[in-house]
Amino acid sequence: MSQLKGRTKTSSGFYVTQEAPIKADNPVPTPKVGPPDILRCAYMEIIVTDLAKSRHFYVEVLGLTVTEEDDSAVYLRSLEEFIHHNLVLRKGPIAGVSAFSYRVRTPDDLDKAVAFYTELGCRVERRKDGFTKGIGDSVRVEDPLGFPIEFFHDTEHVERLAWRYDLYTPGALVRLDHFNQVTPDVPRAVKFMQDLGFRVTEDIQDDEGTVYAAWIRRKSTVHDTALTGGDGPRMHHVAFATHEKHNILAICDKLGSLRMSDHIERGPGRHGVSNAFYLYLRDPDGHRVEIYTQDYYTGDPDNPVVTWDVHDNQRRDWWGTPVVPSWYTEASLVMDLDGNPQPLVARTEATEMAVTIGADGFSYTREGDEMPDYKLGEYKLGNQL
Ligand SMILES: [Fe+2]
Repeated sequence: MSQLKGRTKTSSGFYVTQEAPIKADNPVPTPKVGPPDILRCAYMEIIVTDLAKSRHFYVEVLGLTVTEEDDSAVYLRSLEEFIHHNLVLRKGPIAGVSAFSYRVRTPDDLDKAVAFYTELGCRVERRKDGFTKGIGDSVRVEDPLGFPIEFFHDTEHVERLAWRYDLYTPGALVRLDHFNQVTPDVPRAVKFMQDLGFRVTEDIQDDEGTVYAAWIRRKSTVHDTALTGGDGPRMHHVAFATHEKHNILAICDKLGSLRMSDHIERGPGRHGVSNAFYLYLRDPDGHRVEIYTQDYYTGDPDNPVVTWDVHDNQRRDWWGTPVVPSWYTEASLVMDLDGNPQPLVARTEATEMAVTIGADGFSYTREGDEMPDYKLGEYKLGNQL
């Protein structure tokens, strides 16, 4: 069994350190100018191929609130949100993601964003009137990892509907929680995002030092975004929070009753990483949406960094439920600032699926125990492998 040398193993079976033990071999240079002060992940803009179908999924099925809409876009928010939107559905020919958008603390932080990315040689575009309705002065960049990232401060305030219990459904989505990005070189991405001001809260590694994924934050939760190893840049998922676990079960029940159970890809379950309760859905274009609740507070400066062994079969699901292969292999395209899909760069290091699934996979639940045959490897569906 792995010891992930030099780290303190907790009674829960993972390891803790004070600083993220991740080193990049091929780092993006650190800009001389400081980064913008990012508050939180604020919204994602996704391109959908059938606006009516997507509107039905996000509004009628998942219960997001329409702030505004027209023939080309629908602007949606969660019940506790007071900014204009958390999700934009924009009609387009190719499904993908056109912006991962972060709110910054002050209008001056937009100047800092321009300087930070300009020094790195990135494509930067600033629009005083914003790129979407409801958002003012904004900066969009193609970042060094290939992702379309937006920063804004000015936004139209709308009514926070948290007290409007007459509007709540059993599966009410109350906040945008995080993004998840697929990128081939996780240590390089982590180092770049640390330069942008993010802190690592958790990661998945092996004894040889391969990093499979990392969770990074600005707000005081486990993450604002996660970096998942794989061919990228791609968008793995966007996550909305519910108040309670039972809200997630209610979404499953509703999808069953609507004969829409095919939209459930993975879960419900309890994550090892983040300790949150989860459910993964696929929208009509295949964009993955996570429903997430009850992670933990991470805001102290000495918050311990959690490292999971990739061979721990409870890291992705605390109950040891296998991860379906599609969850590892499929993700959404991301667009450049002209709206064209970014080309993919292949991951060259080992993939998490390859080291944990099938006959070559090895996982453990308890030290010294042998797993029963039916549990060996993470997944053995004949039609998928
Ligand atoms: Fe997630």
